Amino acid sequence: EKDGYEHFMLKEIAEQPRAVADTLRGRFDTSGQILLDEVRMSDQDFRDVDKVFIVACGTSYHAGMVAKYAIEHWVRLPCEVELASEFRYRDPVLDRSTLVIVISQSGETMDTLMALRHARNQKARVLAISNTVGSTIPRESDAVLYTRAGIEVAVASTKAFLTQLAACYLVGLHLAAVRGIKYADEVGAVVAELAAAPDKIAEVLAAMEPVRELARSMGTADRALFIGRHVGYPVALEGALKLKELAYMHAEGFAAGELKHGPISLIEAGTPVVVVVPSPRGRSLLHDKVVSNIQEVKARGATVIAIAEEGDAVVAPHVDHTVFTPRVPTLLAPLLTAVPLQVFACELAAAKGLDIDQPRNLAKSVTVE
Ligand code: M6R
Repeated sequence: EKDGYEHFMLKEIAEQPRAVADTLRGRFDTSGQILLDEVRMSDQDFRDVDKVFIVACGTSYHAGMVAKYAIEHWVRLPCEVELASEFRYRDPVLDRSTLVIVISQSGETMDTLMALRHARNQKARVLAISNTVGSTIPRESDAVLYTRAGIEVAVASTKAFLTQLAACYLVGLHLAAVRGIKYADEVGAVVAELAAAPDKIAEVLAAMEPVRELARSMGTADRALFIGRHVGYPVALEGALKLKELAYMHAEGFAAGELKHGPISLIEAGTPVVVVVPSPRGRSLLHDKVVSNIQEVKARGATVIAIAEEGDAVVAPHVDHTVFTPRVPTLLAPLLTAVPLQVFACELAAAKGLDIDQPRNLAKSVTVE
């Protein structure tokens, strides 16, 4: 059932355009209106929300971090994102008008399940984003949006991540539309961009050979840093997690602005630093800041690999390698920029001869707290 791929992870990476298309299918109409009747929350329920918490673990948590940026911008609601293992021990302030979005591929993660039970005990409304129909987390939630990624076998999450992002965007856009806030008029345009995302993911996948070569050339590196800003920050965390999990390398993701508050002292000659560069269009300030972060690490001898938007002519002269991804609005960029990082980690682990689908010490579904 690997369909000719050597590992499930490779198959699942390749399936991402189809998986994201499946997440989106039938969930908006031709006028760009979001259709989420299936989640069993009325428009009024969505209008009653005055605060959002997103709760998840691991890769699903990184999807939640991206969702926070989108929900705050589109919906103008306060939105916190929290690790499930911390959430209920922190005594979060929850009530009837709190929407708690729990994200879990498996639907069985014990930390996330316990967080959801805590939220429901406090009368919050819980919406699950899950890939597994009928699993415990969707069953115990008030509402559910399935990601429809298809079964994910590899322990390292790939297509689950991209489809969680797509589902989060749908929820954010729906909230914006029903609440009729300032950015509601952006919804139609973003929906069109979202609909085009599967083809763009396919474009990224078609251009991955240089990334694979790069990964193979990294044989002697024993650590790597990942930096990003805004939605590039969770992507950096996700890239680092993939590398830890698959290649058993010490990899760390940072918000690029935090470098000078400590992590920059880790940089030595040749330290690999992967930089998720925001689009130079639109939020140019963000782009300028990341370019100065690149200069800071370069000046200390780092080997810089940039993931940048095609047409970005500013970054290339400052870095050692550039991987270009197609143009897309900033908030949707993780759908594309995460892909080279998945491929990079997978190839690096393969080059080391490691077990790609079943890394040591890990389980696909973590059903203990
Ligand atoms: O099934 P879940 O989405 O609840 O799983 C959460 C994490 O255990 C999971 O994303 C884990 O971090 C992955 N192995 C990362 O690739």
